Amino acid sequence: MIVLGIDTSCDDTSAGVVENGQRTLSNVVHSQVKLHHPHGGVVPELASREHLRNIMPVVEESLSRANIRMSDLDGIGVTVGPGLVGSLLVGLYYAKGLSYVHNIPLVAMNHLEGHILSIFLEEEVPLFPFVALTVSGGHTNLYHVKGYGQYTQIGQTLDDAAGEAFDKVAKILGLGYPGGVVIEKLALEGDKDRIKFPRAYLSNDSLDFSFSGLKTAVALYVKKWHKSQAESRELTSADIAASFQESVIDVLVNKVMKAREKMSVKSVVVAGGVACNNRLRTKLLEAASSEGIQIFYPRPEYCTDNGAMIAVSGYHRLLHGERCDLSTDVRSKYPIQELSPVISCQHQ
Ligand code: KG4
Ligand code: ZN
Repeated sequence: MIVLGIDTSCDDTSAGVVENGQRTLSNVVHSQVKLHHPHGGVVPELASREHLRNIMPVVEESLSRANIRMSDLDGIGVTVGPGLVGSLLVGLYYAKGLSYVHNIPLVAMNHLEGHILSIFLEEEVPLFPFVALTVSGGHTNLYHVKGYGQYTQIGQTLDDAAGEAFDKVAKILGLGYPGGVVIEKLALEGDKDRIKFPRAYLSNDSLDFSFSGLKTAVALYVKKWHKSQAESRELTSADIAASFQESVIDVLVNKVMKAREKMSVKSVVVAGGVACNNRLRTKLLEAASSEGIQIFYPRPEYCTDNGAMIAVSGYHRLLHGERCDLSTDVRSKYPIQELSPVISCQHQ
């Protein structure tokens, strides 16, 4: 079964073709980073206009790289939420057009389910049940995953997402947008123990996150630092980046390990843009190996927003008989708990 997945939920126009929910035939992403960079964040109106310009060439490129024609497709999965409404609309209406004109079944997808299932594009996949952390610019959530479509949210951020904190701190340090990659690079030259930024573990039992206090602490610290340059000349923005990054990662690792213990599972999946961070990967692997736990990371191109992950979840939902029609609309908020379970014998 060959499925085309389309995602335009935020600032990446992406389309991927996947066979049997596992084998990537193509994965094309048009990034809008350059467009939003001068604004220090995603400007929704610019994003949707840019999606309009790129959706057709991106989908065509995904078919041509997969070496297939439209008539070879068994289905199309398209993200309808959560995300920016104007951006989502472009993907959904283009997919509706393709489905109608070429008579291909269409299914409406949840972006977060795509991130969780992106691990199934890899050779090594986890057995159910597992704990999943989706950590990106828009989300920081923990799930107990019992099977395809069977997700219980067990933790969430109460304010900023972890990626959002990276982006805001990068802006404070004058490093531009997006912040994750530049902070990680700069942190390599800094001393992570130089400044003890706060770690919001909340209550001992909580699996929720909070990153806005940390962001404010960094902003205040940088303000003070700028005023007292003479006294703290030896301190660098690399030290601030490294100390900030360590604080985010300590919290993520702590909560992931707590979640897996609470749910009594042996496997953890970490997905979303922040999962590209090598310091996070190293620290989590260290913590997990001492407890005999397996951590699964999709490769970076499957961690950031992409169409292939939407094709994976599309495959399982199409197989399960789900379809949507021309009346389907986008949803800026789309809690994953509203999804129906999918019965599938694969990997169970
Ligand atoms: O999953 P994604 O592409 O889009 C959303 O759904 O948000 O994630 C983008 C986010 C941005 O906030 C970016 O700063 C962050 O992921 N990010 C990283 C790294 N690469 C991307 N954060 C930390 N370290 C990285 N290496
Ligand atoms: Zn995402």
